[in-house]
Amino acid sequence: MTIIDGKKVSEEIQGEIAAEVQKLKAAGKKIPHLAAILVGNDGASETYVGGKVKACERVGFRSTLVRLPDTVSESELLKKISDLNKDKDIDGFIVQLPLPKHISEQKVIETIAPEKDVDGFHPANVGRMALNLPTYLPATPYGILQLIERYKIETAGKTCVVIGRSHIVGSPMSILMARNTYPGNCTVTLTHSKTKNLKEICFSADILIVALGKAEFLTADYVKQGAAVIDVGITRVKSDKTKTGWKLLGDVKYDEVAPKCSFISHVPGGVGPMTITSLLLNSLKASKKEVY
Ligand code: GUN
Repeated sequence: MTIIDGKKVSEEIQGEIAAEVQKLKAAGKKIPHLAAILVGNDGASETYVGGKVKACERVGFRSTLVRLPDTVSESELLKKISDLNKDKDIDGFIVQLPLPKHISEQKVIETIAPEKDVDGFHPANVGRMALNLPTYLPATPYGILQLIERYKIETAGKTCVVIGRSHIVGSPMSILMARNTYPGNCTVTLTHSKTKNLKEICFSADILIVALGKAEFLTADYVKQGAAVIDVGITRVKSDKTKTGWKLLGDVKYDEVAPKCSFISHVPGGVGPMTITSLLLNSLKASKKEVY
């Protein structure tokens, strides 16, 4: 059994990105510049955006954080997005989700220029992903593809079961694993809350990607001997064993599932650390104009 170490792979890739930025600097070329819009001061969003800004600093990117109050109107936010769309100095940007209830996330996503949408959420980029055209892949699925690649996990002809059909993880993951490329060429089943016989379907999987957001949902009886299991869940639960008083749990009951697996990712330290690295990779692509 091999533990998929997302922290290590993430550090390796960020090292590669930093080396590339040094080359760009030495050649007098433009340094990638990522911007983030943060509306309000939700604790988790602050942490995520803070992590993104720090990662930019680590690899030598420029970054700009635009803070707006949670009372900002939808039209004011859309105007700010239009400004960033036009700003030649900004290569790509994200609007951190979730947004306050009075703002339409869909309108926001569709206002971001597809060539600057380094989150890969714009319908044009989702369509390009489905068609296997150059695009920005959403951060979590892109991170999972890189883990599969770096650990040389075979995918061609394998059965892949994805649990969860969210727009940012499960749904794109199912499309990506079915594409005619590596990683891909899987026979994919996308399962969700209405799926019948989930246990039997999971038990047929060579590759299981678990993204339903229920702590320790997947027990050993769902998993075939030798399967590769990728855990995308992150649930914060109370714990009297940690200094902080809480700990993170994945969607997989790790201790009982791991012994059956060929590969498994742990929470924390598996998929999570890869998401910011994917955003950096997309920003580098944006700055090099590799997609549009
Ligand atoms: N909120 C949670 N995940 C994400 C993400 O990947 N991008 C953005 N913009 N907001 C998020």
